[in-house]
Amino acid sequence: MPEPVVYLNGEFVPRSAACLDIEDRGALFADGVYEVTRYYAGRPLAIDRHLKRLRLSLAAIQLDGGVLVEQLADAGNELVRRNGTPEAAVYWQVTRGPAPRMHVFPAQPRPTVLAIAYAVAPVDPHRPVPALKAILHEDQRWANCCIKSLMLLPNVLAKNKAVAAGAHEAIFHRGDVITEGTSTNTFVVRGDTMHTHPANQWILGGITRQIVLELAQQEGIPVIEEAVTVAQLRSADEVIITGSTTQVAAVTAVDGQAIGAGQPGPVAKRLHAAFLGLISQC
Ligand code: PDD
Repeated sequence: MPEPVVYLNGEFVPRSAACLDIEDRGALFADGVYEVTRYYAGRPLAIDRHLKRLRLSLAAIQLDGGVLVEQLADAGNELVRRNGTPEAAVYWQVTRGPAPRMHVFPAQPRPTVLAIAYAVAPVDPHRPVPALKAILHEDQRWANCCIKSLMLLPNVLAKNKAVAAGAHEAIFHRGDVITEGTSTNTFVVRGDTMHTHPANQWILGGITRQIVLELAQQEGIPVIEEAVTVAQLRSADEVIITGSTTQVAAVTAVDGQAIGAGQPGPVAKRLHAAFLGLISQC
């Protein structure tokens, strides 16, 4: 297999030739932000929304990515082409770059901008709704979850607890309030209405979440952007998670207890079908 090509600071280089400075603030402080964009058949889904969110994340941490950030969309396309990976999750990362380790920002930062294309399996347009298990986990993150920050240790630890428990995702709750998953947004169906945490400081405003909200409107599925409680999630008719790499999936068990009938429900089926329809046109 040929060596993958990655993008680093304006250049396309073989994976083994891509070197980061040992004092990069991304490594020392998680001082940076990222995006993950899913490419379907060589085309990115909702790239403008990902770029917009990247700019918001950069502004939120007072980081000017300079001209290189403007090149990221093209870099993603070029990576997918060069690596021959039309089905890919493209990772973009912008850090405040190398500087001696001091908490205060460097006077003249030199941001590090990189992109990696990860090959992923194509989505079968006829597949059934993925049925996943989840655990609940206390949300131990900070109060700026809307920033797509590199600081993912609480997410990583919770996800690993989920996998150790034989589940796929950990759904966070802050006290009694359901927020989101470690790398997905959470929708809870009670009766005919879907509930999801409002896009504020306590969750990442997912691009797939936005798309699913639009699809729900088209499908005539009522949505309330209000958080539910832990008990309301456990007694829900359906739980649905969304994300760029997860698409739309049903959570059929939480902490080993069935949600609703223990299989993907009608709302998950409709939204999943609508989402696959969207992918096929992207
Ligand atoms: N994660 N919530 C969190 C905490 C996330 O990290 C993600 C995405 C989402 C879903 O957002 P979107 O629909 O824009 O992908 C929600 C990416 C995929 C990751 O960290 O790999």
